[in-house]
Amino acid sequence: MEQYAIKGGNPLVGEVEIGGAKNAALAILAASIMTDETVLIENMPDVRDTNVLLQAMESVGATIERLDRHTVRINGSTIHDVVFEGNYIKKIRASYYLLGALLGKYKRAEVVFPGGCNIGSRPIDQHIKGFRALGAKVDLGGMISAQADHLKGGHIYLDVVSVGATINIMMAAALAEGQTIIENAAKEPHVVDLANFLNSMGANIKGAGTDVIRIRGVEKLHKTEYSVIPDQIEAGTFMLAAAATKGDITVKNVIPKHLESITAKLMEIGCEVEESDDAVRVVSSKPLSHTQVKTLPYPGFPTDMQPQITVTLALSNGSSIVTESIFENRFKYVDELTKMGASIKVEGSTAIINGVSKYVGAHISAPDLRAGAALVIAALAADGISVVDDVFYIERGYEDFDAKLRMLGAQIEKVADEKEVKKFKLRVS
Ligand code: EPZ
Repeated sequence: MEQYAIKGGNPLVGEVEIGGAKNAALAILAASIMTDETVLIENMPDVRDTNVLLQAMESVGATIERLDRHTVRINGSTIHDVVFEGNYIKKIRASYYLLGALLGKYKRAEVVFPGGCNIGSRPIDQHIKGFRALGAKVDLGGMISAQADHLKGGHIYLDVVSVGATINIMMAAALAEGQTIIENAAKEPHVVDLANFLNSMGANIKGAGTDVIRIRGVEKLHKTEYSVIPDQIEAGTFMLAAAATKGDITVKNVIPKHLESITAKLMEIGCEVEESDDAVRVVSSKPLSHTQVKTLPYPGFPTDMQPQITVTLALSNGSSIVTESIFENRFKYVDELTKMGASIKVEGSTAIINGVSKYVGAHISAPDLRAGAALVIAALAADGISVVDDVFYIERGYEDFDAKLRMLGAQIEKVADEKEVKKFKLRVS
């Protein structure tokens, strides 16, 4: 089991380069095999989730060539199967994008039930409702299987704003006959990025980024070259690391507009935030003040930033309230944070936080991807040494997280066992 050993207490200072957005990349990878022509994708993050999806695509015959760490060339003409099974693929959530992509292209696909972070019940009823509205028959046995003689555009009103369902329906509808309308669609930057990617392949998708998306199906898609947008959540995580450690970090290669809700909260609690065209600098030099945060679909405050803002607010003056309105089980990390001295009471979907002046190092465990990153921030802000277990969760979505933090002055190392933790302690004491 890999762990991070961390000596906290230093402000993080410097510049960090943000990679491609994991959640956009996952949708774009799945969509890349909807054409038989060759697709080149740049700014692809090299993280566990994208690598598992690439492995799944290769397992059914897609040709994948990595030109360098962040550039991949994909050809879907060699695909010989539409069934995705095996334990490795259960680890990711985005496996379900193969359903929408291949249902569109081959009118048939079968995928194991999706895994991903355990942050709530995460039903997929809206995806299924969408596929059915396009004329597909969907069976849920041991696997999710979808098939259609032919797909015909439909009118779908999503009962909940779902990123995954919006993306899945958009992919299948891109190759359906006639027009599909998705109402109450998700507006996240990665939904827009997928629509731009599909349009660059010849799809006809309008309205992505608003809550009504109109897709006029085309007969086939063609080759393209495309660069994935920067990762809004990776950027936000480093912004919050600056706030919590009293640091000064410039996050580079970002789209500041995508970070507005995070920037607004940081300014509210007393940080200075300077925006330029493709960078944001966060300076935390004053005591942090308390506030209220509620997670909402984009452009609201992202649920994927909820643990990071909670960790930061727990170091502020006064009482803060954080309400999680997207996933029902996303406060599991609070018990770990309490071991570090935080004073937080969770009541249902609300965390009531009484700010403390500091954290103390502890042995803690990452319960999922974003909470794992948030606990690392807490450990970096803490007095003393912490050990964070289960860092494989963090590696699902952050490329070189420890190396990037080291560049900002953090004392963090990946260790494999107790012996290595002891060596780290000797080195940093
Ligand atoms: C995506 O998950 C992201 N994952 C998540 O990122 C992110 O937290 C989430 O969107 C919200 O922004 C990927 O992009 C791979 P949803 P997704 O469908 O698509 C309910 C991360 O850390 N719902 O937008 O699974 C659902 O239970 C992660 O990178 C239904 O009820 O999220 C939730 O309450 C974790 N029925 C809400 O909608 C459905 O059919 C939003 O979920 C689908 C969703």
